[in-house]
Amino acid sequence: MKRTHHCGELTRAQDGRTVTLAGWVHGRRDHGGVLFVDVRDRGGVTQLVFDDDTAAAVRELADELRNEYVIAVTGRVRIRPAESVNPQIATGDIEIQVNALEVLNRAKTPPFLIEDDAQATESLRLKHRYLDLRRPPMQRLLALRHHVVRHIRDDLHHRGFLEIETPILTKSTPEGARDYLVPSRVNQGECFALPQSPQLFKQMLMIGGADRYYQIARCFRDEDLRLDRQPEFTQIDLEMSFVEPDDVMSLTEAFLVGACKDAAGVTLPTPFPRLTWHEAMSRYGTDNPDCRFAMELHDLNKAAVRMEFAVFRDAVERGGRVSGLVVKGGADMTRSRIDRLIETAKEFGAKGLAWVKIADGWKLESAIAKFLTPEPLRQALPGAGPGDLLLCVADKPAVTFDVLGRLRLHLGADLGLIDRDAWAPVWVTDFPLLEYDAEAQRHVALHHPFTAPRAEDVPRLDAAPLDVRAQAYDVVLNGIELGGGSIRIHRRDVQEKMFDLLGMSNEAARAQFGFLLDALDSGAPPHGGIALGLDRLVMLLGKAESIRDVIPFPKTQKAQCPLTEAPSTVSPTQLKELGMTLKRPDG
Ligand code: AMO
Ligand code: AMP
Repeated sequence: MKRTHHCGELTRAQDGRTVTLAGWVHGRRDHGGVLFVDVRDRGGVTQLVFDDDTAAAVRELADELRNEYVIAVTGRVRIRPAESVNPQIATGDIEIQVNALEVLNRAKTPPFLIEDDAQATESLRLKHRYLDLRRPPMQRLLALRHHVVRHIRDDLHHRGFLEIETPILTKSTPEGARDYLVPSRVNQGECFALPQSPQLFKQMLMIGGADRYYQIARCFRDEDLRLDRQPEFTQIDLEMSFVEPDDVMSLTEAFLVGACKDAAGVTLPTPFPRLTWHEAMSRYGTDNPDCRFAMELHDLNKAAVRMEFAVFRDAVERGGRVSGLVVKGGADMTRSRIDRLIETAKEFGAKGLAWVKIADGWKLESAIAKFLTPEPLRQALPGAGPGDLLLCVADKPAVTFDVLGRLRLHLGADLGLIDRDAWAPVWVTDFPLLEYDAEAQRHVALHHPFTAPRAEDVPRLDAAPLDVRAQAYDVVLNGIELGGGSIRIHRRDVQEKMFDLLGMSNEAARAQFGFLLDALDSGAPPHGGIALGLDRLVMLLGKAESIRDVIPFPKTQKAQCPLTEAPSTVSPTQLKELGMTLKRPDG
């Protein structure tokens, strides 16, 4: 039997035609004399009918069918009686009157039903991923991922980009996570690292004259996993020569808008708004702002020094920051609800959370009301008024921003302020080049050590390195960092200076990055680029709950693959060949 159609494509138009379908038994209903069997493939589901007109042998075989049996059937398309039409599915107008049936394979009873809503735990789904992938929502996500990639490949091809592969067995490229290491058999005692990104190779390609490169690049990072992080993930990675930040941002915006429209029918609003890093931090408390809802942070430093509350004044005097969130109409919140918010703020790292209810005539109600005066607050909070609730944190700027940024998201979800159908992309620019790592007692690069400082800030590299801004940009969608990139350092002396600022000796820089320094010295063009997280993009477009749903074979939170049970022990012979011994944690 040779398949003529897929299970999602037959309609009234094929009435009377003889067709052959193949797929999995999706369910069966025995209505006395008449047996209905749904057959499913990637395209959808079609109803098969076995009734009095079906040959006895075929009917007998049909009685043996169980869920997930693999079958092929030939039969005649007919229009369903009006009362049996199912408008929910594409093939709901028709059914197949079967006259030949072949069982291509039997199946054990699956551990969970293959249906839209996954009833099984995620670990069971991952252990039997091949069954989980048969579920229609998973099929849709696989297809969505394909269409996103296909669109981007076409688009970048038309914009003059070459798709170029870079090595998987390579030398460690620091992106801030731990490396996955691969011991070398031929060069015993030495290891390759799996790439955290193709960063240095794409720079080498620009120096090599490739001009415009892209790659759908697999990256590996041994870091703590979250809902939007996997140890092995895919970047849409690109690099261009002779460009400035605007060139990379406008190109990225264009292909992203096209891919979202083409693959998912999603219209991203353009142009994407741009926020500097400072604006993002002070208005949203984070460099990944979720702009689907307002409720921004307000700077209360000026108000704080005009009031008597010591916690606020002291914070400002010590170089800290007092900021507040206005909950519109929040003044009717009960004390116990406010107490829960205080607890939440403390879990986020706050020392305290001051609350103020604004009553009629701007009268303030608060445990600290006697230390507060309305006028300074009124001036600092133009949009606020009677009936609103103000929540404030005073601390080091980083703590104030982090706590209120997280509290903002918490309240946004809790109060239903987030429009789940909205799309809010935003560029964040002008990141600081460096930050100070108190634990390591040295500067570290905020993006990576190859990011160029803004030309006008270069003279401040020595005197005020923390004030130097980078030519770096992130694109954020609905509060999730989708991608990040920068213009790179293309001069050897500047790159050496950067390594120096990061506390790296000349010898260490040469040992680790000698090849880069030499390449920069050989006629490196100005260049820059970006990498977007493909998995995150598909997760957002597909409204998937976790990044694991858009990766066919993902790892668990513990960085394991339940399907293959990797990682696993290896044979003593393999280890011997590598000159390795492995110590188990208990041994
Ligand atoms: P960055 O480290 O910001 O930049 O990574 C770029 C994008 O990759 C995605 N991403 C991840 N997705 C899933 N799981 C992870 N563990 C993970 N880590 C990162 C994010 C992120 O925005 N070489 C630079 C890019 C450049 O400068 O051109 C880089 O890798 O969506
Ligand atoms: P305390 O002096 O610790 O009893 O705090 C008095 C009030 O100030 C309480 O309502 C605290 O929640 C609040 N508070 C204390 N520390 C902070 C802080 N760092 N930021 C905002 N409010 C605070």
